[in-house]
Order: sequence, then C-alpha cells, then structure tokens
Amino acid sequence: MAVPGTANAATAAPDTTRATTLGAQAAQSGRYFGTAVAAGKLGDATYSTILNREFNAVTPENEMKWDTIERFRGSFNFGPADQIVGQATSHGQRVRGHTLVWHSQLPSWVSSIADASTLRGVMNNHITTTMNHYKGKILAWDVVNEAFADGGSGQHRPSVFQNLLGNGFIEEAFRAARAADPSAKLCYNDYNIENWSDAKTQGVYRMVRDFKTRGVPIDCVGFQAHFGTSSPPASFQTTLSNFAALGVDVQITELDIAQAPTTAYANTVRACMNVSRCTGITVWGIRDSDSWRAGENPLLFDRGGNKKPAYQSVLTALGGTAAKSATSATSATSATKADALPSAFSWSSSGVLMSPKPDSTHNIAGLKDPSVVHYNGKYHVFASVASSSGYGLVYLSFTDWSQANSATHHYLDRGAIGTGYRAAPQVFYFAPQKTWYLVYQTGNASYSTNTDISNPNGWSAPRNFYSSMPDIIRQNIGNGYWVDMWVICDSADCYLFSSDDNGHLYRSQTTLAQFPNGFTNTVIAARDSNKYALFEASNVYQVQGGNQYLLMVEAIGSDGRRYFRSWTAASIAGSWTPLAASEGNPFARANNTTFPSGAWTKDISHGEMLRAGYDQTLTIPSCRLQYLYQGKDPAASGDYNTLPWRLGLLTQTNSTC
Ligand code: XIL
Repeated sequence: MAVPGTANAATAAPDTTRATTLGAQAAQSGRYFGTAVAAGKLGDATYSTILNREFNAVTPENEMKWDTIERFRGSFNFGPADQIVGQATSHGQRVRGHTLVWHSQLPSWVSSIADASTLRGVMNNHITTTMNHYKGKILAWDVVNEAFADGGSGQHRPSVFQNLLGNGFIEEAFRAARAADPSAKLCYNDYNIENWSDAKTQGVYRMVRDFKTRGVPIDCVGFQAHFGTSSPPASFQTTLSNFAALGVDVQITELDIAQAPTTAYANTVRACMNVSRCTGITVWGIRDSDSWRAGENPLLFDRGGNKKPAYQSVLTALGGTAAKSATSATSATSATKADALPSAFSWSSSGVLMSPKPDSTHNIAGLKDPSVVHYNGKYHVFASVASSSGYGLVYLSFTDWSQANSATHHYLDRGAIGTGYRAAPQVFYFAPQKTWYLVYQTGNASYSTNTDISNPNGWSAPRNFYSSMPDIIRQNIGNGYWVDMWVICDSADCYLFSSDDNGHLYRSQTTLAQFPNGFTNTVIAARDSNKYALFEASNVYQVQGGNQYLLMVEAIGSDGRRYFRSWTAASIAGSWTPLAASEGNPFARANNTTFPSGAWTKDISHGEMLRAGYDQTLTIPSCRLQYLYQGKDPAASGDYNTLPWRLGLLTQTNSTC
C-alpha cells in the first residue's frame, strides 16, 4: 500500500511542473520531442529503452522514402515503415511521415521517366497510395523534401520532378496529399533554410507566402537543422517566427549538431520554445553511433546510450530539470523566493489529452472537472463523467501526458463510493491524518477517504461535511445549483468553498484538528450581481514562496464561452483583489491561449492547477503555471449533460521567473 511517510514528504515532493524526460517535458508546453528511428534497430534493447523513455514522436529515418516504399513501379512495400508506426502507436508516440517527393533515395525507374504525364501519374499514385495506407496515423507529412537549390539563386534545384513538371510540381504534390489524407498536416521540409537572410530561406518563404495567398494546401515548414558547431544562426528564431506569421506551423525536423555543443543545442531548442507555432523538435537519431554523421558525434546520447551534456541543456531549455547535482542549490533558492504572480497571463494549450472511455455499463458523453496530483512518479487524475443519466466519478493515472489518453478509466461507482449523483472531485493528501481525501458534490458537500491514492477500490463510502445546506446558501441560491466544493487548509484552519451558479462564492471554516468535521461560519466570500461573472468551478491555491493565495472562478463570457477570472488575497479568509479578472484581461480564456495543435475548444472550463506538492495546502508554483481543464468542440450543442467535454492542459507562456 502506498502511504506517504510523513507530512514533510509533501513539501519535499518533486516540482510537478518539471519532467525528467524530453518527451514529457516538451508535452508540458504542448510540443513533441521526437527522434528519427531505424526499423532495424528496434530490437536493440538499449536503443528501444531510450526511444520509449525519452521520445513522444518518431520519424522513420529511411523506411518511408520512395526507394523503400515503391522500389519497383506499382509494387508497394510498407513492411519496415509499418513496424515503426506500429511500435510508435503502441507507445503513444506520434509519427512524422518522411517523405513523399524527393530527388534523393529515389529509384532509377522514376528518375529515368522522360515524359511529364507519366511522371505526374506516378507521383500522384505514390502520394495517394502511401498516404492512404497511413491515413489517420500521421501527424505531419513531409510532402516535398529539399526542392530548393543551395547557394544564391533562391530557385528550385534540378530534379526529374522539376525538369519535367516545372515549378508547379510542389503545388501538385501538396494538392494530391491534401486529397489523400485531410487529417495529416502537410509540410515542406528543407535544410540550410534556418538563416533568415539566405537566398534559399527567402526562396522557400516566398513559396509558402504564395501558397497561403492562393490557397494551396500547406500547414507546416520543417527546418532540418543539420548544424555545424557554430549554430544555430543568430536569426533562427526570427526565421521560425516569420514563417509562422504566414499561418503555418514550424517544426525542427532533423536536428543534429557537430560535436553536440550544449549552448548550440540549448539555443536551438529555445528558438522553438519562443515561437508558439513551433510545435515540435525531432533529433536525427538517438545515440552518436546511430547518426548518419556518426563521425561528428552530433546527438544527445553517446555510443553507450548515456546522456551527454547536450541532453541536459536540451531538457533545461524545454523547461525541465537539469542534472540534479548541478541545480539543486539554485532550485532551492528559487523555491523560497517570493515570486508574485503577474497581472496578465498567456497560455498555450495542448490538444485533447483525455476523452471519455464508455464501457458496457457506463455510457459516457463528457469527461469533466478534473482534479490532479503528481505523487509517487505518477499523475493521478479524478474527473466527473457525464451522460444523459447523470454524473459519476472516474480515476486514471499515468506517468506522462503522452500516456494520458491510453490510461485505463476506473469508475469509482464500482467501490464503496457507489452509484448516484457524484461529481466535481477534488483530491488532496491530508497530511495530519496521513490520508487521501476526495471531496465531491452529491447535493451536499461530500468526501471519501483512502490510504492509497492508486487504489480506486480503496475509497470509503460518501460522508457529508454539512448536516444540510447552510442557511446562508439556502437564502441566496435562487434558481441556482449548489456545486463545486473545494477544501484548502493553512497551518491552523481548513476552509470549504462552494458555488451556487447564482453569483455567490461561499466559504465555511473548521480547525485543522477538527477536519473533516466542524465546518461552520458559512459566509459569502465573493459575490457578483451578474451571476455569469461569478458562476462556478472556484479554485483557491496557496502560491509557492510568498504569502499569496490565488482564487480562480469560472465565468461565462459575453460570447457564451467559459473562461476564468482571478483574484489574490494575503490569507484564505482575506478579501480578494482582482488580478486578471475581466473578459479583456482574463486569467485563462480562448483569447489569451494559443492552440499549437489545433483550436479544439473555445471554452476554458472547470479544472485544476498542477500543484507543487499534493497536501491540503494546495500549493502551486508561481512560475509556468499549468492548468488541466475541460474544453469541448465549439460546434457541439444540445443537453448540457451530454456535451462532449474533453480534457487538455494549459501551460503559462508569459512567466518571467
Ligand atoms: C539520411 C539518413 O539519415 C541516412 O540513413 C540515409 O543514408 C540518407 O538520408 N535530409 C533528409 C533525411 O531529409 O532524409 C536524410 O536522412 C538526411 C538529410
């Protein structure tokens, strides 16, 4: 049974905003971190251990190239690439498709074609057949690779495609690709286009601008980033953001750097992190011995599979932990520094990370109201499940966000919590009793306890915090609902907040020693005459490092969409001062959030901040906040209980500390 040892264990918990692998850390900002993979190496244990531990995306290094897929005309060999795609899918890794039309690794039967119409038919058939085979499985396809010439011309390079089909071959390839798999992002990929002023960069930029102007389907540009020691070019971030401003995603697709200097790697990663439409980074191989430039030792792992110094600098640049020995002193100082929250926020959202998993006895429409702690190396998520027949609770756990969607959903109505109206869970470890609490709404404010958070059957039957609805709530609730109970404690007292969907936030109080009993003195902690401006889903947190508490309340905007307003106070029972509390300067709303992997929701609704620990103080970091939230397809409509809510993760992008 997993029982945290002491109350102090909570404060010593690892910072949940830092991950310890490249993929997990990149995922926290909604990005992927990938590697080129060779099918022939999947059986190498060192190789596949690193692959599956560190990376959440892969690119087949050679297996999707024309000379493998269609070595002989009309005869398609998907075997080696299927092996990579199958492995990747089973490990929750995304796949970049590389590449459909390229002058290199092209069989001689193609390069010796001599008439345009034969070549056009062959090219379209190759694109269509290959993309059909992998339909729905590919994040982005390098539709055309390396079509531009090196040097000062800024023009296309000669190739059989260029020579027979003319400049229009790239456009033809992209149009055929869009028709074949509309779900894949379509990229143009090239090298030596990282330095903004280079003629080659300018040539590709003009092409993308022209495509966007004329509606030729293109979604992304891949920068190979095969770099020498003095790299990246100083303008690399400018190049990325100038391309992004054309309305395409940008990705670093084949990164390797001669001798792997730590600074060059960090600067390259930072350039991507600083551009919100830079959606991912792929290194071109795992160990130096796997590299096509093996003589230059350009990768993040040495021949033995050990992390090189460049690995740590990449992890740090992604926002993660550097080597413990090197940074424990600095992180201790920053943890005790009183960093105040900023007064305006911006966020980047992941795509959908978790969706309902109906089973034969649970017909679920929406996955909602997540509560999350990071404990014992895992995220533990509790959420409401909603359907036409009402509400229940579900539990899932996983080690990193890339695995969230494949986690098993444990329905808590199978244990003592039982069936019936149970919703909007909140989980925390109550250190004085060495016990986990799950707080939720049942019509009353209820809770269950458990000594092992990872055991979904260990929760006790529901008990109520109140004998009945407190008078002050009964007098103010009007036509509203009593929802979203929330517990937070300081060193002396515990507080129980709740909302009424009618413009009131309530707060009751008991002592730490009496908890969970004795909640009295219910007061209105905040009110708004416009009930939609102070609606529900309130969260209260202690901000790490200072005597500052954060209150977030969900509002319904003038556009009908959910968003969060925020306030701060010097104590839990203190008075709340607006922080980012309007539609124009919201705490978290679609208008201060970017969606690098697609704008899947316009609602930023009921969720929870990732905490710095997991105890009853609900302490959150003051930097790089992350908020697990519910969103939904903007086009969805109908009965509230059957709306298709899904879970995603916001990461703050404007931290200054
Ligand atoms: C390289 C592979 O890494 C090698 O194994 C192969 O022999 C040649 O191709 N640009 C690209 C990649 O787009 O496909 C190339 O990969 C490296 C340069």
